[in-house]
Amino acid sequence: MKIRRSCISSAAGPERIMAICCIFAVLLSSVSCQAPARKNKTKIKIGVLVYDEGDTFLKGAINEMIKSAKEKSRGKADVTITVGDASGDQNTQNDQMEDMIANGCNVLAINLVDRTDPTYIINLARKNDVPVVFFNRELVRHDLDRWNRLYYVGAPAVRSGMMQGEEIADYVKKHPEIDRNGDGSIQYVLIKGELNHQDTIIRSEKSVSTAASYGLNLDRLAEESANWSRAQAQNRMSQLINEYGDKIELVICNNDDMALGVIDDYKKRGKKTKELPAVFGVDGTAEALKCVENGELKGTVYNDAISQADKIMEFSIALAEKKDVSQVTGSNERSFYIDYQKVTRDNASSFAAKLGDQE
Ligand code: GAL
Repeated sequence: MKIRRSCISSAAGPERIMAICCIFAVLLSSVSCQAPARKNKTKIKIGVLVYDEGDTFLKGAINEMIKSAKEKSRGKADVTITVGDASGDQNTQNDQMEDMIANGCNVLAINLVDRTDPTYIINLARKNDVPVVFFNRELVRHDLDRWNRLYYVGAPAVRSGMMQGEEIADYVKKHPEIDRNGDGSIQYVLIKGELNHQDTIIRSEKSVSTAASYGLNLDRLAEESANWSRAQAQNRMSQLINEYGDKIELVICNNDDMALGVIDDYKKRGKKTKELPAVFGVDGTAEALKCVENGELKGTVYNDAISQADKIMEFSIALAEKKDVSQVTGSNERSFYIDYQKVTRDNASSFAAKLGDQE
């Protein structure tokens, strides 16, 4: 199998030119992995559509999908993957889906821009009989039930919130000095992801309620959304530090990139690791794992992109080959969840090694 840059040829008329220019731009940044043509190999074209290719967690997931497809296609199917980046616009994603179907994709793996608005995508999939494996941005059950060739692969948000809350409770118990003013409560700020994302809603609630259930007294000073972005989190944190200064004892972040943005701002102010409040994230990205190892980040929760990507490819290939997917999953459920894992300074290096092994 070789990896090459992909280029779609199309005989479409002038009325499609705008869309084709658009898809061509997408394909400039896309990767195809294709096995050398061999007789009797099933040809599988998988279109992968993501809300924003700049998102660190998703960038990792895409790389893992390409690796997994290569692995699975060895000696069996002939798999091509084309990636489309919607840059945060649902209409762009809808157009990309149309173009991918027109260009012969027989299955799509879709990370919706707006998880509450999948109607266009579902109707198009049904009309063209192209199955979809949604991932990471979870659509509501009612939408998944609209067709029996729709699947979802993700992680159980509630578990990430619980694990983060347990890490916080455990850390504060072992490090009472986190309570700088010694008032018996931990003053914290919450840095949230996109506001209507299931992970934002559930992690925010569960993390705090779990820490409280272990007897921790928590006082919320403020909460801000930074849309999963490191730069936005740094900006929000800068304002929060200006307002609350050393009163901030704990910073709970819905993902690692935002936790890194928080740390960036403290470092910019010349703060040393031991002067930072306790910062926690979610995802277990390579950079965050290094920060857990060096103590800047007190904990994260591993969001297993490797296993999720593998499942997405397993489902996609089975669907493209018109196999009974329940045979692959061992269940009639069309939603599949890969559990999270706690990461602290004690075990961060084993996760880093896992990510390293995959490179
Ligand atoms: C979350 C992940 C975030 C971000 C988001 C995008 O699961 O923790 O870092 O990637 O998905 O939908």
